[in-house]
Amino acid sequence: MNRSYDEIKGRLAEHGQEHVLRFWAQLNESQRQALLDQLADLDFEALARMRTLLKSGHEPVASGAFRPAPVVRLEGAERQQAHEAGEALLRAGEAGCILVAGGQGTRLGFDGPKGCFPIGPISGATLFQIHARKILALEKQYGAPVPFYIMTSLENDGATRAFFERHNCFGLDPQRVLFFSQGLWPAMTDDGRMVLERPDRVFMSPDGHGGLIRALDERGMLDDMARRGLSVLFYFQVDNPLVDIADPAFLGLHRQRQAEMSVKVCAKSGPEEKVGVVVTRDGRDAVVEYSELTREQMYATGPDGELLFRYGSVAIHAFSRDFLARATRIPMPMHMARKKTPYCDESGDTVKPDAPNAIKFEKFIFDLLPEAERTVNLEFAREDEFSPVKNATGDDSPVTTRRDMMRKAARRLAACGASIPRSKDGDPLCKLEMDPLFDCRPESLRALLGPEMTIEKDTLLQDKPS
Ligand code: UTP
Repeated sequence: MNRSYDEIKGRLAEHGQEHVLRFWAQLNESQRQALLDQLADLDFEALARMRTLLKSGHEPVASGAFRPAPVVRLEGAERQQAHEAGEALLRAGEAGCILVAGGQGTRLGFDGPKGCFPIGPISGATLFQIHARKILALEKQYGAPVPFYIMTSLENDGATRAFFERHNCFGLDPQRVLFFSQGLWPAMTDDGRMVLERPDRVFMSPDGHGGLIRALDERGMLDDMARRGLSVLFYFQVDNPLVDIADPAFLGLHRQRQAEMSVKVCAKSGPEEKVGVVVTRDGRDAVVEYSELTREQMYATGPDGELLFRYGSVAIHAFSRDFLARATRIPMPMHMARKKTPYCDESGDTVKPDAPNAIKFEKFIFDLLPEAERTVNLEFAREDEFSPVKNATGDDSPVTTRRDMMRKAARRLAACGASIPRSKDGDPLCKLEMDPLFDCRPESLRALLGPEMTIEKDTLLQDKPS
């Protein structure tokens, strides 16, 4: 133990971090071991980068002029061909899904993994259940496995696994549901020192959704994907129950263009919406964060009168497996955010500050876009595929997400010929919900609703054998 203590102390000294051992003399044996274990796992290379970044005072944002990136709108025969190409990938068992479900979910403030949040307007189905059932529907439709990779954080990993186990993986084969935990990074005070949360513990938090690449590599998931013969991976976030998982047209287009990374984009709701926009800079596509756009750029319009930087990325991607493997060798930029960070005072008590007191570092997945040799951006209709649960109330909250789920269900049912009484503003007058496995062909709907095909009361359409 002494040798590793001396070794670790030496490394800490090299990086100006010896202060984290300041309570050493007061710690008992198990506390000492816990602290040493935590310190032995530290990514010292990242630590050095963090300190350099803090000194420079700003993130290494790419500079240079940019213009809107080209965006594909798939229609008619072109859509059909892309769809068929995607279906062929699914049928061949070459497609898998990656769900990022780590992070902290601070804005929603839900006690537990965000994916356990009940969002079904009638059933109370959780986000995890909805995602898993969509994947099950794909497996049934295409008669091939669609492995489901779920990134957790250290904090929610156990609870996430237990939740899936309790629900028998929602019908999926447990061999094809793979959990892996993302990395953790320390926070730093302005002077580049890590924060001690307890006398025996350094404060650590998830390293951002961009931590995916490292986690896939270190937890053996890239090897697993190779073993299973996957060539394309659909990436999505846990908070959006509308997402069209492994959308065949998107996967097909990605393959037709031999893309390494693809982005699904939608028109921004307004000039000031806080989403990153897709641009082209130095011949490469990139996502520029809303905070990087000047006011002039935000409001600029093109010849068609539409916003010039119109297309936002909402973190729905396709990756070729080869690119994910190559990305493990690409150093990703670090982003800084000032956050409230619990710290330990001189008497060893933990203090929870009321105001941000330290800098947290994160990697963002979209920073990989300029690294990809070939990319494609596909437009999608927001009302059909995007309504995230981010906040407890207001915009992007459970209320707006449930509303959007019901509107979507109403549109789908109406398209199959069902008649739904609606309010003046077009919203259904009853609650509607569709299980992702529900077969809503007109003949199945008719069998369920009767010849009138009218839905007048709250209706949950669940899986029926077709
Ligand atoms: P958000 O940026 O909304 O972060 O994550 P969050 O942690 O869920 O919530 P806030 O910001 O604290 O309120 C977008 C997606 O990325 C995942 C989240 O689970 C969500 O699906 N994520 C985020 C990770 O997997 N790891 C992270 O470190 C951060």
